[in-house]
Amino acid sequence: MNNRRIQVIDTAVEMRGWVTNAIGRVGLVPTMGALHEGHLSLAQESVAACENTVATIFVNPTQFAPDEDLDQYPRTLDADLNQLDAIGVDVAFVPSVDTMYPNGEEVTIQPPPVARRWEGANRPDHFSGVCTIVEKLFRIIPADIAFFGQKDFQQTRVIMAMVRQLGMDIDLRVCPIVREPSGLAMSSRNQYLTDPDRELATSIHRVLREAQAAAQVRSSSPQAIAREAETKLKDAGISKIDYVAVVDPDSLEPLDTWHPQSVMVVAAYVGSTRLIDNMFLTS
Ligand code: PAJ
Repeated sequence: MNNRRIQVIDTAVEMRGWVTNAIGRVGLVPTMGALHEGHLSLAQESVAACENTVATIFVNPTQFAPDEDLDQYPRTLDADLNQLDAIGVDVAFVPSVDTMYPNGEEVTIQPPPVARRWEGANRPDHFSGVCTIVEKLFRIIPADIAFFGQKDFQQTRVIMAMVRQLGMDIDLRVCPIVREPSGLAMSSRNQYLTDPDRELATSIHRVLREAQAAAQVRSSSPQAIAREAETKLKDAGISKIDYVAVVDPDSLEPLDTWHPQSVMVVAAYVGSTRLIDNMFLTS
């Protein structure tokens, strides 16, 4: 027994019916659960901006590669529901894999060009899986505003492009990255880090801040600052780096000259845990 007020819905029919009957704006916060303050900040923004908030909890198998952590991905449903309830989220949509993929993965969304580099290059089917599930969620939950975190910067641009291309009628809001006091960006995957890994992982944020300081005085080119950041990560002991780049905030293409909103994007392994982070350098 519990005293939660949040309603838990697991079928598409019931979910769509709830949204159809809702009075006022509906905010949508898609997640894969194992909620932390980063996720909760999106839910809080939605509760503040909309009369109704739906959070979704679904560990989407199609965005994981076969060698990735789908099976070990943390699942903490009861704690997640308590946290969502405490901030006033109205509904948690918690579908099964069969509900979202009734006949397996028969129809998929081909992601837009902005998905090609970085995460797309290192995780080949990842953004197809993300687009496929987000498009389904947007149809089952025809919300007014969907909330995403800047933590997954490329993901926000991929979803914006999909919404534009498919003419979907939904506003997107990107919320700032929530960090631990050490600077480490909050992530469900931080649970995999040992104490020494956690310490090492904080150098990602430090290196981003140093790049930001250098970029603000335009001390060298975007490419030089990216190379310098990579060297600093390696010097700190982070040797397996998927990418460090300074990119255009819309196209995600690497920059030769400074853009007013240049972004540094990073993906690297700390121990066996793959972490991503990013920061606007020049805005
Ligand atoms: P997940 O990794 O659970 O993240 C859900 C949302 O929380 C994403 O929009 C993500 O950017 C945001 N988020 C995660 N950590 C954050 C932090 N430290 N600060 C701010 N926001 C943060 O992203 C996904 O799930 C999936 O790809 C999904 C969109 C749900 C599709 O399956």
